[in-house]
Amino acid sequence: MNLRESVDRILSERTRLTDRFYQRFFERCPEAREHFSGIDLQVQSVMLTMALGAIREHPEMKGACSSYLRVLGTRHKRVGIPRELYAGFLATLLESLQEFHGADWDEGLAGQWTSAVRDAVQLMFEGYDDSFHV
Ligand code: HEM
Repeated sequence: MNLRESVDRILSERTRLTDRFYQRFFERCPEAREHFSGIDLQVQSVMLTMALGAIREHPEMKGACSSYLRVLGTRHKRVGIPRELYAGFLATLLESLQEFHGADWDEGLAGQWTSAVRDAVQLMFEGYDDSFHV
């Protein structure tokens, strides 16, 4: 299975991947919880699923997705999310992906997801360094 097939599978199962994500993330990084007070985690789960869709390799969408991820970074900076929390976020995401895919998960897919999310976070951090707005 490759990254594109993985994202297609995730999107086809609505929010099954992301529903348990935040619980896991808070177990790993309890300090992240304070940032989510007053935030509806079910809505958040839908938002994260859509953002993962933007990571899917899609040449026609590349420019738009990069702009989106920079804007997303600026929004995260504005609500005070420290960069240090991103490593735990990535580790939690990989753990959730592994559980989601079960027997279809392998090192190749793990590698593709790791580099895709690292690239996405790099673009989000550009939105920390400079402000991007729509
Ligand atoms: C690859 C990394 C990440 C992605 C793809 C991502 C994705 C998203 C998306 C799509 C939204 C919804 C934005 C909107 O309402 O327009 C969001 C909001 C939010 N994210 Fe993230 N996120 C990431 C990392 C993090 C980290 C590390 C934290 C740490 C606490 C975090 C905390 C939040 C919070 C608190 C909100 C709600 C902000 C608000 O609406 O006031 N995110 N994220």
